[in-house]
Amino acid sequence: MAEVSYARGLAGVIADESKICVIDGVKGELYYMGYPIQELAEKSNFTEASYLLIYGKLPSKTQLENFRAELTKNREIPKFIEETIKKFPKKTHPMTALQTCVAMLGMEDIPSEKDSRETNQKRSVKLIAQFPTLVAYFARHREGKDIVKPNSDLCHAANFLYMLNGEAPTDEIAKMFDTCLLLHAEHTFNASTFTGRVVAATLADLYTSVSAATGALFGPLHGGANEKALEMAKSIGSVDNVDKWFDEAMASKTKIMGMGHRVYKTIDPRAKILKGLLLDLSKKAGNTNQLEVLDKLAEKMAEKVKAEGKEIWPNVDYFSGTLYELMGIDSIYFTPIFAVARVAGWSAHILELWTDNKLYRPKCLYTGDIDLKYVDIADRA
Ligand SMILES: CC(C)(COP(=O)(O)OP(=O)(O)OC[C@H]1O[C@@H](n2cnc3c(N)ncnc32)[C@H](O)[C@@H]1OP(=O)(O)O)[C@@H](O)C(=O)NCCC(=O)NCCS
Repeated sequence: MAEVSYARGLAGVIADESKICVIDGVKGELYYMGYPIQELAEKSNFTEASYLLIYGKLPSKTQLENFRAELTKNREIPKFIEETIKKFPKKTHPMTALQTCVAMLGMEDIPSEKDSRETNQKRSVKLIAQFPTLVAYFARHREGKDIVKPNSDLCHAANFLYMLNGEAPTDEIAKMFDTCLLLHAEHTFNASTFTGRVVAATLADLYTSVSAATGALFGPLHGGANEKALEMAKSIGSVDNVDKWFDEAMASKTKIMGMGHRVYKTIDPRAKILKGLLLDLSKKAGNTNQLEVLDKLAEKMAEKVKAEGKEIWPNVDYFSGTLYELMGIDSIYFTPIFAVARVAGWSAHILELWTDNKLYRPKCLYTGDIDLKYVDIADRA
């Protein structure tokens, strides 16, 4: 095999082929199975986008109805997991709880290497259906509240908020939240999807692979950034404080959470859509303060990077935290919500990988010593 060049963090390396999603980082474009994200956000919904990702094409009316019914039917989680969740320490982070529960799903429905693609597609649909329940049940438990069972009269997005908050959201909030899920459903070879693929490529089962992907999403440089972006916007407080805060942040080389991206060298198209939703909801709530802070901060960064020839723009996490907060969601659930959406993309990638599996095994540039002489412990300094 020809030697390939060294790319730290695999930046720019093409590690595999995929038909699921493509990003044009320069133009700021994102496509799911060839469909532009703007069009999907406008005309489609999370349920249909999940079908698209799992089955590779848009559903017919009947296929969509059946898919929706499958999702609704599979919302409940195994009883032993529900009981275990109730025993989790309340101080557990919801992402730790979620990752654990995803692995536990493989304890009852025990996968085998011989399972067909159809079996794993059905499992994927179950995972998409059950992620909201896992997150909501643990949320209720950690808050010392009774769990709220899924409501089959509500759509996927509305039912999640219902199980989380104990009351159904308005149609408007449900629709916005659904769009948020759709925007987060897939994003090519990001860290968590790549993790899921790496684990799946060893032929570990779907639950193990998705559980690993869930773990990778937890980090603040990935799914955890929206929680941090909200904390930042709040700590800045008002638009008048932005200049000072920004100068101090740059002087101390503090990274601005929700900005920057490995692939996008312009504003993330999802951030543009989320900003529109945030503007809408902020105006309705009569409080645009936090949006103004975020806008001014993004302007300051744009000025700075223009002068330095860098490209650091708002990414998907920049506006979503503030938006979720206006929807009444506690920030600790932001990353789990990301997972509720991204499980569709993870599953799609794992299913795709298994149609022509190849183990991932990169090399490392060794920088350590070699051929050292072993010194007996008695003779060591
Ligand atoms: C996403 C991220 C990890 C991409 O990182 P990357 O492609 O490896 O880029 P780097 O971290 O190497 O940054 C390149 C340069 O831009 C700067 N930079 C990147 N993101 C920045 C940010 N959010 N705030 C300030 N500076 C940033 C770095 O300091 C670095 O500057 P330098 O060349 O002077 O050292 C990075 O932008 C980041 O940490 N962002 C904040 C976390 C976040 O929002 N994550 C969600 C991603 S969807």
